[in-house]
Amino acid sequence: MANGARILLIVGGGIAAYKALELIRELKRRGHESRGVLTQAGAHFITPLSIASLTGDVCYTDIFSLTDEAEMGHIELSRDADLVVVAPATADLIGKMANGLSNDLASTTLLATDKRILIAPAMNVRMWLHPATQRNVETLRRDGVTIVGPDNGEMACGEYGPGRMAEPVAIADAIEARLKAGGNIIALPPETQLRPASPVQSPPPQQMMSRANPKVASVPPRILPGKGPLAGRHVVITSGPTHEPIDPVRYIANRSSGKQGHAIARAAADAGAKVTLVSGPVSIPDPAGVEVVHVESARDMLAAVEKALPADIAIFAAAVADWRVATASKEKIKKGANGPPALALAENPDILATVAKGRKRPRIVIGFAAETQKVIEHARAKLKKKGCDLIVANDVSPETGIMGGDLNAVHLVSADGVESWPSLPKEEVAQRLVRKLAEAFRPA
Ligand code: CTP
Repeated sequence: MANGARILLIVGGGIAAYKALELIRELKRRGHESRGVLTQAGAHFITPLSIASLTGDVCYTDIFSLTDEAEMGHIELSRDADLVVVAPATADLIGKMANGLSNDLASTTLLATDKRILIAPAMNVRMWLHPATQRNVETLRRDGVTIVGPDNGEMACGEYGPGRMAEPVAIADAIEARLKAGGNIIALPPETQLRPASPVQSPPPQQMMSRANPKVASVPPRILPGKGPLAGRHVVITSGPTHEPIDPVRYIANRSSGKQGHAIARAAADAGAKVTLVSGPVSIPDPAGVEVVHVESARDMLAAVEKALPADIAIFAAAVADWRVATASKEKIKKGANGPPALALAENPDILATVAKGRKRPRIVIGFAAETQKVIEHARAKLKKKGCDLIVANDVSPETGIMGGDLNAVHLVSADGVESWPSLPKEEVAQRLVRKLAEAFRPA
């Protein structure tokens, strides 16, 4: 499916709109076709003409354009698309999507489509971190929308933090991964299947909103907390890096973003589990519906995990620092005449091994293996050495973009063998992993 797909690209208003043009080019380079919908706000940043010249198709701009409606209704618009992509997805568009609002072509198309949706949010850091936006994003995730980014970085407004739209290449990667994962159409109950559009004259604009069959907007039922295949189970998850202090202002760290561990926590909560997420310092928000314990160092992480037990499942996705400075200085270390200080290192406790071999061992213990070579071989060795049931192994060499990125290509290594998954959005990896766990806990 990855080759020759048709993408309906909805471009929202924001400085990142210009990157949507690069996304169209990138998709074309990969052999995919796009058709554009530009919101009124988006048209302040780029023109319909630039989208139309790159896609080689009409760029649709307004629901009240009778000509467009006659030729291509808002329901029809996504019908021959394999995926609907919103880039940039503004706070406004995300809010409308999460709440089922439709007052222009973009939001009406999004509400009326039965195709999978992928969004690339872009907005000011405070807008992104605002509880209202996070609530809306959480709702979209639960509705099955794939979310790519946003990235950390300097914003057009001069602030720094999460909110920059993911790069076009990363969005194109996520689009292909989403297409490969299949399930492009959201299944509707048989009695609500879409019928082909009738060739009759389009109704006047004031009737257009009511033309959509309300049932068309159905999405798979959302699993409410406390219900679902992991209801009644307690899942403990570690995520993110650890920071090991050198002195009050410096620390040893690594590049882990926490995206994969947080996505698993979210997916487990969506499946009805009680989730305790022990997170190292990350710049992504806490997932909703999860108890989050924030820690800094490996030793704090171990203490928090032990406190959270007993559990039915423990998943160790954190990139724990293997070493800490044996004696962190209480004062800031100053440059001296004797050159750089010699930092004596001490080994950190292995949290996974301690829990897997401990008295309170959960029924299922899962470890991660971040490798840059001989991925499977090293994962097999870790499975044995640490005493866990499954190792989720991935290649974190810089060229894979996995560390800190939105996609992950994992191998599941257990005593039964190796199962390799294609490159998928981290949310998708999380959902698949949780589905496996649910199977393991299904009553016989
Ligand atoms: N882990 C842990 N505590 C540590 C080190 C690692 O809980 N002190 C867990 C990680 O969360 C992961 C697994 O062990 O689930 C493997 O981590 P990884 O960093 O890949 O392996 P290490 O044991 O650190 O071995 P190495 O760095 O030599 O590859």
